[in-house]
Amino acid sequence: MEIVSGFSKLSREEKIAYIQNNFPLSIDLAKETNHYRHETNQAIFDDFSENTLSNFYLPYGVAPNFLIDGKMHVLPMVIEESSVVAAASRAAAFWANHGGFKTTIHDSIKIGHIWFQWSGNANTLLRHVPAIEAHLRASVKEITQSMKQRGGGIVAFEFTPQPELDNVWQMQVSFKTADSMGANFINTCLEAMKEPLLHYFDEQNLPTAEIIMAILSNYTPNCLVTCEVSCKVEHLKPYAAGLSPHEFAQRFKLAMDIAYHNTYRAVTHNKGIYNGVDAVVLATGNDFRAVEAAGHSYASHDGKYRSLSHCNITDDGVFNLSLTIPLALGTVGGLTRLHPLAALSMEILQNPSAEELMSICAAAGLANNFGAVASLVTTGIQKGHMKLHLSNILTSFDATLEEREKTEAYFADKTVSIQKVREFLKR
Ligand code: MEV
Repeated sequence: MEIVSGFSKLSREEKIAYIQNNFPLSIDLAKETNHYRHETNQAIFDDFSENTLSNFYLPYGVAPNFLIDGKMHVLPMVIEESSVVAAASRAAAFWANHGGFKTTIHDSIKIGHIWFQWSGNANTLLRHVPAIEAHLRASVKEITQSMKQRGGGIVAFEFTPQPELDNVWQMQVSFKTADSMGANFINTCLEAMKEPLLHYFDEQNLPTAEIIMAILSNYTPNCLVTCEVSCKVEHLKPYAAGLSPHEFAQRFKLAMDIAYHNTYRAVTHNKGIYNGVDAVVLATGNDFRAVEAAGHSYASHDGKYRSLSHCNITDDGVFNLSLTIPLALGTVGGLTRLHPLAALSMEILQNPSAEELMSICAAAGLANNFGAVASLVTTGIQKGHMKLHLSNILTSFDATLEEREKTEAYFADKTVSIQKVREFLKR
C-alpha cells in the first residue's frame, strides 16, 4: 500500500473514503462515524484535534458528598471503569461524617528549561547570572505583563551544568501561572528567551552558546497538595466487613505499608489513586498525561517508586490517611472553558481556583484509594466490581429488559462472572 500524503488536507468524507477503500472493514465507516457526531457542537469538538472523524464517548458521572476544607462539593467524573464513581461517592459520604477532606497546598510553582551548550568556564557563567536574568526578564516583559496582573509571572532563574553531558547547561525558570495550568505561557516565555540568551553571550564577548531546546517540565514537585482524612478507629466499622474496626485498621495500614515498600504493589496502589484523580482531571478539561507523568515521577523522588498515600494509626486510636501529590492544573485556559462539558464541570464545582481544583482532585484520589484498599483487605474488589460490571456483560449479550431484570435479581447475592451470566441466560 502506498504512503498517503497530505491526509490532513483531505475533507472528512475523503478521509473516510481513504480508510474504507484501503482497509477491509466490516462496517460502513461513514454511517458509524456520523452516528456519533454531535448535532450542533461538532465544529467545536473537531477543532480540538486533527483528522477528527467523530467523537469517542465516555460516561460523565458525578460523585456527591465531597466535604473538602469545609465546603461541600459534587465532583464531576469522566471514567469508564464502573466501580470508580460508586467507590468515590461511598467514601466521600463516609468521610463527610468524619470531618471531611482537609488539604494543604504546599506551593503551585511550575518549571521550564532552556537547554544549551556552552564551552566557557562555569564560574564565569555563574557570575553573569544576575545580569542574564535581568536581560531575559526584560525580553519577555510584554508576554508576562498580563500574567503578572493575575498574580503570576517568573519567580526565579537557576543555571546548572549537566556533568554527564559535555558543555550542556540547564537554565531553569520557575513560574507562577495563577489559575491557568500554564503550559502555553511557559513555553511561549521560554521560546521567546532563546534569542536574547544567545545575544547576551555575544554582547558580552563570551563564547557563543547553542540552544538545544526550550520546554516546560511536567515534573512539578513544587506544585504539590496534601489531602488528609482521619477518624477514630472504632468509626471505621462500615468498611470493616465483618472484621473488628481495629483488625480492619491494622490490615489497612499493613496494605499501605506494603505499597510503600514494594514497587509492584505501589504502581497498582497509585493507579487506584489516579482512578479518582484522572476522572476529575478529564471532566475539567485538564491534561491527564501531564498529571500522571508528574505523579509517577514524584512517587520515585527518593530513588524508589513508592505509594503516594500513607496511613498512620496513633496510640490513642486515631486512623489517619494522607495523600501528597503534584497536580499542575488550570481552571482557565486550555480546554477548561472551551469544551462545553469541561465548562459545565467548572460550573458544578462552583468555579474553583486552580489551587482549589488541586484540593478537589486530591480528595477524589484519596477517596478512591481508601475505597480500593478497604475492599482489598476485606471482601476483595471483584464482588462489587463485577456487580457493577453486570450491566456491561448483559449489554454484550444483547439481553432484553426482562432478561436484565431476572439476571440482576438472580445475581443480587451471588458473585458475577461472564461465564455464570452466560449460563444463566441460556437457562
Ligand atoms: C482498579 O482500577 C484499582 C485497584 O487495583 C487499586 C488498588 O489495587 O489499590 C483496585
